[in-house]
Amino acid sequence: MRIEKKEIDKQYGYMHRISSLIGEGKKVYALTFGCQQNEADSERLIGMAKEMGYSVTNEKDEADLIIINTCAIREHAEKKALSITGQCKHLKAKNPSLIIAICGCMVTQKHRAEAIKHSYPYVDILFDTSMVYRFPEILYTRITKQKRQFALDPESKGNIPEGLPQHRENPFKAWLSVMYGCNNFCTYCIVPYVRGRERSRLKEDILREAKELVSKGYKEITLLGQNVNSYGKDLDEDYDFSDLLKDICAIEGDFIIRFMTSHPKDATHKLIDTMASEEKIAKHFHLPLQAGSNRVLDKMNRKYTREKYLSLVGYMREKMPDIGLTTDIIVGFPTETEEEFEETLDILKAVGFDNIYSFIYSPRKGTPAAEMEGQIPDDVKGERFQRLLDTQNEISITRNRTYEQKPTKVLVEGWSKTDKTMLTGRNEKNRLVHFKGGESLIGSFVNVMITEAETYSLFGELI
Ligand code: SAH
Ligand code: SF4
Ligand code: F3S
Repeated sequence: MRIEKKEIDKQYGYMHRISSLIGEGKKVYALTFGCQQNEADSERLIGMAKEMGYSVTNEKDEADLIIINTCAIREHAEKKALSITGQCKHLKAKNPSLIIAICGCMVTQKHRAEAIKHSYPYVDILFDTSMVYRFPEILYTRITKQKRQFALDPESKGNIPEGLPQHRENPFKAWLSVMYGCNNFCTYCIVPYVRGRERSRLKEDILREAKELVSKGYKEITLLGQNVNSYGKDLDEDYDFSDLLKDICAIEGDFIIRFMTSHPKDATHKLIDTMASEEKIAKHFHLPLQAGSNRVLDKMNRKYTREKYLSLVGYMREKMPDIGLTTDIIVGFPTETEEEFEETLDILKAVGFDNIYSFIYSPRKGTPAAEMEGQIPDDVKGERFQRLLDTQNEISITRNRTYEQKPTKVLVEGWSKTDKTMLTGRNEKNRLVHFKGGESLIGSFVNVMITEAETYSLFGELI
């Protein structure tokens, strides 16, 4: 269901008007775990806090409101969020009027929400992923009623909030959510349980937002969705992700479009043809593979085979010979044998990805894979993980060397974190590029001649 901010304001109008007085002179601090969807949600939460008068701080210690937006994808992400939540206790002791709000995918799981309610009594507010739009009202109620607030509703994960303010972190790169949720139920994954079913925003809403971003000078727009390329399947109109891309490309202006994350089962030739023909779409495809064995892919419920995947890559390279390709890989999925793991290494070599995001399988409560027999021992998972990294590092450096002595277009993002004399940015293919230049270039496109390649980045000179 589409929910308009204006309608929400009417419904909770009284509270919103008063709530604008709540944050005057106060500061909000937000910490975000997980994926870009979560980052976009945090930007909306901060946007609403700013409407309520809060100003933004990067210092936890001086905050009057702390928002921790959590992730549930792997155990590690949950542990980190819980440990940070634990650290808030002493902040609350120093500043009793501090409000601590925890939201996101981790607390959208009932067992985690219950645990936090009971074991972290100083947490003031808990709300799940579908309650983001109600944040001002929840916060207002907490402050005025002096009572902890829990907005956790497992039934309501179907909404599409529109018109929420968004505090964009980056002045030239913007997230644009085009759809929410996931229907795929890969057997290892928690996302469908915490983000609800797939639902697409109306194209009018998306195009309006895209035009606004371009007119404000954003240079890179990343379209977001858990399954971004299944956009439109739930709309009444016959309009798919490729159609949306074309309409966004038609907006006049100097900008590039990226999108994530795509599922191979929905990566159509039409989409690849659209990428090839539209200049504004960055020639980078992040296409999670997960595993190289057909038996494992089937057990993961991925709905494609290694042959299908390889044929997609073949078609992409036919249309865009120098496309940048990246992927996600999971090692140690239950029952994965040594031979099957080697099939993953083989397909990495066959494809030659520019880069991979590799993960050790982490059992998630409530998912089918967590209950499967044949869980892989930690030491075996760790050993496979290391071999995966070693294999990919060699491939990455070979791929990166193909950029040497060639010009590449880069959106300059800022100063390098490791060398303050170097500027850094990403090229179209999403490779990190470092080069010498001046402050004034930040936020603009430049051409760089690549002089040297390393495993994770490229070095060059401004042309
Ligand atoms: N919707 C996207 C991204 C999902 S989460 C997609 O379909 O690819 C990002 C990545 O986390 C996944 O691609 C997968 O590689 C990894 N992941 C998800 N669940 C995991 C788990 N239980 N253990 C380890 N890695 C996992
Ligand atoms: Fe998770 Fe699979 Fe959905 Fe991606 S497609 S979010 S991996 S269930
Ligand atoms: Fe994590 Fe939720 Fe994203 S589980 S990866 S923050 S959708």
